[in-house]
Amino acid sequence: MSVMQKASYAVRQLTPLIASELRADAQSLLSGEIAPVIRDLLETRGVVVFPEAHLTDEQQVAFTKTVGTYAPEQGVFKVTLDTNENPNADYLRSGFFWHLDGTMDSKPLRASILSARRLSPIGGGTEWANTYAAYEALSDEDKALLVGLKARHALEALHSSIYPEPSYAQLTEWRQHAARTIPLVWTHQSGRKSLVIGNSAHYIEGMDRCESRLLLARLRDHTTQPQFVYRHDWKLGDMVMWDNCGTIHRALWYPADSGRLMHRTKLEGEESFA
Ligand SMILES: [Fe+2]
Repeated sequence: MSVMQKASYAVRQLTPLIASELRADAQSLLSGEIAPVIRDLLETRGVVVFPEAHLTDEQQVAFTKTVGTYAPEQGVFKVTLDTNENPNADYLRSGFFWHLDGTMDSKPLRASILSARRLSPIGGGTEWANTYAAYEALSDEDKALLVGLKARHALEALHSSIYPEPSYAQLTEWRQHAARTIPLVWTHQSGRKSLVIGNSAHYIEGMDRCESRLLLARLRDHTTQPQFVYRHDWKLGDMVMWDNCGTIHRALWYPADSGRLMHRTKLEGEESFA
């Protein structure tokens, strides 16, 4: 006779405004029984850390499927600056700057999951900032100022962070890709509001470019204040899942030849920017 074991787990907050840690064994994570708890943590805490979970690729995919709609990729995506591992690794350098994933998509990813497979001997942490908490903490004047404002998000802005002097050919190529206009304040289906900022934001529509740049910088400075930020210093086997709709993130510098390797899985987007 088989004995059904109840999934066991322990949760604790890592900072007051962002990130919780969830400790559970692989069997409990894969059972799907904790999935409602994880979805709730994603929504309320933005980032969920699974310390030294040591899941295999297959287990990471299976786990991802318990939490939402798995966004299939060709195998597990390798986040690394090593071009032998990922031929497009060069473009990943834009991940050193604050962003959320998929601002040019109609529905941005609901969540991403990274697991640490090889570490850099120096640097290579990851930071997230809670864009719900940052919006909430804005002054009433700033909340009023942002009503109706929309930013244009484009590859040109994203890649300018790594190519500050783009060639004519680069600019022309980047401009062939879809750009998207998104409200600076996202009113979610839940009724909660978050800021949509990051390095893909090119300019604010209808605003003078200089003024626009200043406002985007001011909002980023505000959002990335220490009280809204969680920094993760990776241990081998750690897995971190984050709400891509309520946080922005960035990788902290590490050498391109450090061997740092993360395996990523994703949850399909569930709602459009609004
Ligand atoms: Fe990213």
